[in-house]
This record gives sequence, structure tokens and C-alpha cells, in this order.
Amino acid sequence: MYERILRDGARLAPLQVWHAEEFAAHMDRAREHIRPWVGASFVTSDVDGARKVLEGYAVRTSQGTGGIHGIWLDGRLVGGVMAFDLSEAMGSCEVGCWLEPAAEGRGLMTPACEALVEWAFRERGQHRVEWHCRADNDRSSAVARRLGMTLEGVRREAWPYEGHRYDKQVWAVLAHEWQSSTTPK
Ligand SMILES: CC(C)(COP(=O)(O)OP(=O)(O)OC[C@H]1O[C@@H](n2cnc3c(N)ncnc32)[C@H](O)[C@@H]1OP(=O)(O)O)[C@@H](O)C(=O)NCCC(=O)NCCS
Repeated sequence: MYERILRDGARLAPLQVWHAEEFAAHMDRAREHIRPWVGASFVTSDVDGARKVLEGYAVRTSQGTGGIHGIWLDGRLVGGVMAFDLSEAMGSCEVGCWLEPAAEGRGLMTPACEALVEWAFRERGQHRVEWHCRADNDRSSAVARRLGMTLEGVRREAWPYEGHRYDKQVWAVLAHEWQSSTTPK
């Protein structure tokens, strides 16, 4: 087990299947806030659903294709970061994130994502780390920008949500860009 201390004493640590009840309680606080912006399967409504999400990430961890970490602020689970679709053959993966409303705007997410991107490049030897978000998700694209990612393109009307189709941005940072970044890592 490891953890990393983020800003304000918040800590980043693996989110495990045995956190299912805590994750479900957190989802009760986060659900409506994150629903428009994350994959529908992530937005669960009960402990069984929360456990299935965590089991899915446990499988990714065991297969080396991703993982999920929680952010605890004052002992309460307030959000997290995840990696998925990590392909050693392709040398790329995608990262994502979420916070409950009370934890937003405190500068927690950028250092949490930095830790995950750092892991993807330095421990897993990836060449590209991608970030996909709805084009109108300004807070999400701001995190991608702060991570030093480049907006590579827009997949038009690729994000269906409640009867509308939204554009999806694809951001990415390359290993050599990350290494040469002036931001302390
Ligand atoms: C995307 C999301 C995680 C971004 O969270 P966030 O709190 O805006 O991002 P950070 O944690 O990096 O914090 C940056 C904000 O904290 C503020 N902040 C406050 N104290 C700070 C500090 N000490 N250091 C740095 N930033 C600080 C920054 O000014 C910035 O706020 P601003 O944009 O209003 O100026 C959050 O909006 C969210 O969960 N949204 C819903 C789910 C979602 O969209 N997930 C992503 C799907 S692609």
C-alpha cells in the first residue's frame, strides 16, 4: 500500500474493492455533479454498482491495463483519478478524473493527475497519455492544459447525453514533452 500527500493534506491512494461502501456514499454526494461529464457506467446508484466499478478497475490493475486511485480530504473520499485502455503494444493510455462538488476549486486534481501521468510514463513506459472530455467541460480541459497536454482534435458529436450529442475533445501529452516540462514533477 502506498499513498501520496496532495495539497491541503489530501491524500491519493489506491481505491480498492473493499472501499465499495465508502465509494457508494461518495457517489451519493458526487452523482449529479459528475453525471454529464463522465462515462455513464461510472455513475452508479448503490453499493453493488459501486463494487462492480471497483472490480472492473481491479481487473485492469491485475492485467496492467489501468487502475483507480481515490482522493481523501480530511478522511473523506472526495474523488479520484483513473487510468484505462493502457496498451503496451500501442504505448498509450487514457486518464480521467472526478471530484464531488465540495472538493472542486481547491487545486487537488491537477497534482493527483500529475502523479498518474508520471506513473504512466516513468513506471509503465508509455509514449502517449490521453485525456478525453466533453468540449464544453471547461474545468476538465483546464486540468488537461495545466498538465501540459495539447488539444489534438475534436471528435464531433461523439458524446451522447440525454438526447443530445456533444463534441468530444482529445488532449494528449507525449513522454518527451513530459520529461522536458519545466513544471516540477
Ligand atoms: C474536472 C474536475 C476534476 C476539475 O476540478 P478542479 O477543482 O477544477 O481542478 P483542480 O483540482 O486542478 O483545481 C483547480 C482550481 O482550484 C483552484 N485552486 C484553489 N486553491 C488552489 C491551490 N492552492 N493551488 C492550485 N489551484 C487552486 C484553482 O484556481 C482552480 O480553480 P478555477 O478554475 O476556478 O480558477 C472537476 O471539475 C470535476 O470533477 N468535474 C466533474 C467531473 C468531470 O468533469 N470529470 C472529468 C471528466 S473528463
